[in-house]
Amino acid sequence: MLRKWRIRTPSEAERSGKAGRGSNATDMDFTKIAAIAGGHAEARALQTATRLGLFDALAAGPRDGDSLADALGCDRRATALLADALVALEVLRKSIGEYVLGEAAARYLVASSPEYLGGMILFDGALWDEWGRLEKALRTGQPVRPPDMFQTDPAATERFIRAMDSLVRARGDAVWTAAHLDLSRARTIVDLGGGPGTYLVEFLRRWPHLRGEIWDLPATLEVARRILAERAPELRARIELCAVDYRAGDLPHPVDAVFLSNIIHSEDEPTNAHLMRSCWRALNPGGIIAIKDHVMDDSMTAPAAGAVFSLYLLLTTRGRDYSFAEIARWLAAAGFDPPRVTALPSPPFSSSIVTAVRR
Ligand SMILES: C[S@@+](CC[C@H](N)C(=O)[O-])C[C@H]1O[C@@H](n2cnc3c(N)ncnc32)[C@H](O)[C@@H]1O
Repeated sequence: MLRKWRIRTPSEAERSGKAGRGSNATDMDFTKIAAIAGGHAEARALQTATRLGLFDALAAGPRDGDSLADALGCDRRATALLADALVALEVLRKSIGEYVLGEAAARYLVASSPEYLGGMILFDGALWDEWGRLEKALRTGQPVRPPDMFQTDPAATERFIRAMDSLVRARGDAVWTAAHLDLSRARTIVDLGGGPGTYLVEFLRRWPHLRGEIWDLPATLEVARRILAERAPELRARIELCAVDYRAGDLPHPVDAVFLSNIIHSEDEPTNAHLMRSCWRALNPGGIIAIKDHVMDDSMTAPAAGAVFSLYLLLTTRGRDYSFAEIARWLAAAGFDPPRVTALPSPPFSSSIVTAVRR
């Protein structure tokens, strides 16, 4: 069901030497430790520049420091320090005293770009206080904010859902997935917890016979409605938005495919086992489930991005990233055929897709 791509099993990944790097790394040195220790300064510089609209201010052309500061309404000396730091980080260039966008900055950091990553950068910036409470999470084992998927404050919901959309569009996950997941035999697909619908839009573009539904929480659907109207009005008649809480009761009616991207990592193990059973019941016989997430190897240290991301999940959810073995166990208990796992090419991706058929 996944086409034109090599199926990677965890044991192959282990043999390739890429797995378990966190626990087996031998090339750590002073420079790398110091870079990790100070990484917050670089992240904060980029987040602040994005919030201030610094990259948008340079989109029309180069500016010297004073002109840039005036455009942002900021102090001139301070702005020069930030812009110089961004030059040092190779995000900007500096030529004859003027700041210029680098190629990647123009592509990913200017709000009008179709590959704008700013939604994700702003969301990360808004989680600054949560990261400051990591020690508390370590001591209690509990999230440091209500694990409410940002549903209680409309501004927070909007920032969260725009972040998902922005990351997936900038990195290209949805286009890659639509090109490799074979949906030729499915008539209906559900993007469960589909958020902004970024994946569903690409599935419907790739498969013109397909109808799609997003099953998600009401506050998220409000944002999804706006995003779909902006981005894919031509597909709107083929998409239904349904308010569904997958934790509560049965999922709606039978469909041919269920897609879950970045869902299981926010939930604990019993909830995921329950969710797999609900998906099995929601599928027609012969239907497929496709789960896209960081899929960890048995050491739980690779992919590295997944191991680090689990700390964010500790802060904000009841979940973590899970291994292929764990996911396969839930799927088997729910009645699915043995699953297959496919790793997306890394870089830029760090996730995999697990697929299984419901007989
Ligand atoms: C991390 S986002 C992933 C969005 C999208 N699938 C993607 O990968 O870009 C998690 C999504 O799950 C939704 N969600 C969380 N809990 C849910 C629940 N109990 N029932 C339905 N949707 C839920 C959130 O509203 C959000 O859209």
